[in-house]
Amino acid sequence: MSRRADEQRAVTSVLVVGTGAAGLRAAVELAERGVQVLCVGKRRRDDAHTVLASGGINAALGTMDPEDSWEQHAADTLREGYWLSDPASVELLCREAPRAIEDLVRWGARLAREQDGRLTQRFFGAHRFRRTCFAGDYTGREIQRMLVERAAAVGVEMRDDVYLTRLLVHDGRAFGAYGFDLDDGSRRLIVADAVVLAAGGHTRIWRRSSSRRDENTGDAMRLAAEAGCRLRDMELVQFHPTGMVWPEESAGTLVTEAVRGEGGILRNALGERFMERYDPERLELSTRDRVALAIYTEIAGGRGTEHGGVLLDISHLDRDLVLRRLPRMYRQFLDLAMLDITTTPMEVAPTAHYSMGGVRVDPETHATDVAGLFAVGECAAGVHGANRLGGNSLAECLVFGRIVAEHAARWSEALDVQVRDRAVIDQARDEVDELLALRGDEFARPLQRALRDLMSEHCGVVRSHEALREGLERLRELEERTGSLEVRPDIAGYADLAHAFDLQASLLAARATLECALERRETRGAHNRADFPDQDPKLSVNLVWTPDGEIAHEPIPAPSPAVAALAGGPEVEVAGRLLE
Ligand code: FUM
Repeated sequence: MSRRADEQRAVTSVLVVGTGAAGLRAAVELAERGVQVLCVGKRRRDDAHTVLASGGINAALGTMDPEDSWEQHAADTLREGYWLSDPASVELLCREAPRAIEDLVRWGARLAREQDGRLTQRFFGAHRFRRTCFAGDYTGREIQRMLVERAAAVGVEMRDDVYLTRLLVHDGRAFGAYGFDLDDGSRRLIVADAVVLAAGGHTRIWRRSSSRRDENTGDAMRLAAEAGCRLRDMELVQFHPTGMVWPEESAGTLVTEAVRGEGGILRNALGERFMERYDPERLELSTRDRVALAIYTEIAGGRGTEHGGVLLDISHLDRDLVLRRLPRMYRQFLDLAMLDITTTPMEVAPTAHYSMGGVRVDPETHATDVAGLFAVGECAAGVHGANRLGGNSLAECLVFGRIVAEHAARWSEALDVQVRDRAVIDQARDEVDELLALRGDEFARPLQRALRDLMSEHCGVVRSHEALREGLERLRELEERTGSLEVRPDIAGYADLAHAFDLQASLLAARATLECALERRETRGAHNRADFPDQDPKLSVNLVWTPDGEIAHEPIPAPSPAVAALAGGPEVEVAGRLLE
């Protein structure tokens, strides 16, 4: 296949895939270092998934609790991640997080402050100290606004209307990406010395998800796996304890942890403050995995509400405080449910929220298995283990966005020769043409819906061998049905083609998740196996998956002595975790 007439070619030093916080932070750093960078995304830059991150960003600044330290932050992260995080990544994250906040403040981000001018920090679940900075409950939105502004100021070239279908790799080295314009379908060939993948996770493959339509469909995982990367710990998916349950079209929408951080109380339909039974000390501010499992257990035990949730109540708080600290939640419930949260409890239930696994990367550089290809943000595995602490993801995006840029820049500068393999580019062209030529009786959207139902029914908060096996059988049927897909772009654009690629991505991500979930025969963090209710010390390993279905067990190095001493022994308190 030769070059198409409508194909535009761009050449850059570093291509950044994704315009959320991780991608933009990398792009800003590259531009500030004088490296040519092109940042490409599939949705409007001011509406990237980052804007949904509500409650805050962590850094051990000690503004509220001076005894806090980065070592304690690292210890909390490792311990509450059930020791599956990479210690080197975690220590780097926690050491560098204060600098990430300094950058934001220097650029003009409007983070909340105390009367005396100190940055305010709030409690988030399972943090030993208050270390979560915030901008009301619009923290992600404010950070995204700041990064978009900064990227423009330092001259980052950006396209946010391009869907990338393939990363281009020759002989184990990345040399760019191929894709199409979402409006008119014209093709894009981008040649780059290095590629930074920052395209999010795969939590939209569950029916109830805190991600919106067409985001977090697993496209980063597909791009990486097909380029030759291994995926890690794909079974470790965080279900945020509190998503909306009604109205149905809004089910899954995030109800920020900041609600509990500000004093929100959870009750079942009998009026019981049930967290007293699951974690009597930390109550609503227990870890996310425990609170999610507790809510699941209450609902499964018949103590849920009419709409299948539990109640989250802040009506005892001062109305003015709610409007100041939780303005988004106030507006969200009024807009979507006509409910005033200052007087009436919210109904909530767990929602798929965050991919803790993802592309396997070097813990410090975030280099992948493919030379010149880096992964960062939610699509990269390493920091969160089996349970992510709220507020650590925005920190991860900013800290590793900067670090990955440094390494991508170095790679680009050191490159002598680059082969732009024409056969590989042709394959990428053919792949798009073949999808466009399909004429069948299946459409991507309903198949996506079927996949989301499948994942919710077979691989939700609580899993079992039997359910996962059945899930894999149903997945095979769905994979077969994609052979009869019909892809029809129309006058409104090429969204249908993007859906078809998203579907392929979601199927791959689902397969990796189900297979790893079968392999992890234990209960640990967010991964609850009804048939293996205990933690298995032999599974204190990362599961590394390749598309041929191989799963390797990788040992995890020890943390530094100072962090290990603060984190305590390898046992994690499991009281209150068990299912009824
Ligand atoms: O609940 C929240 O505001 C989410 C924060 C996070 O996932 O880090």
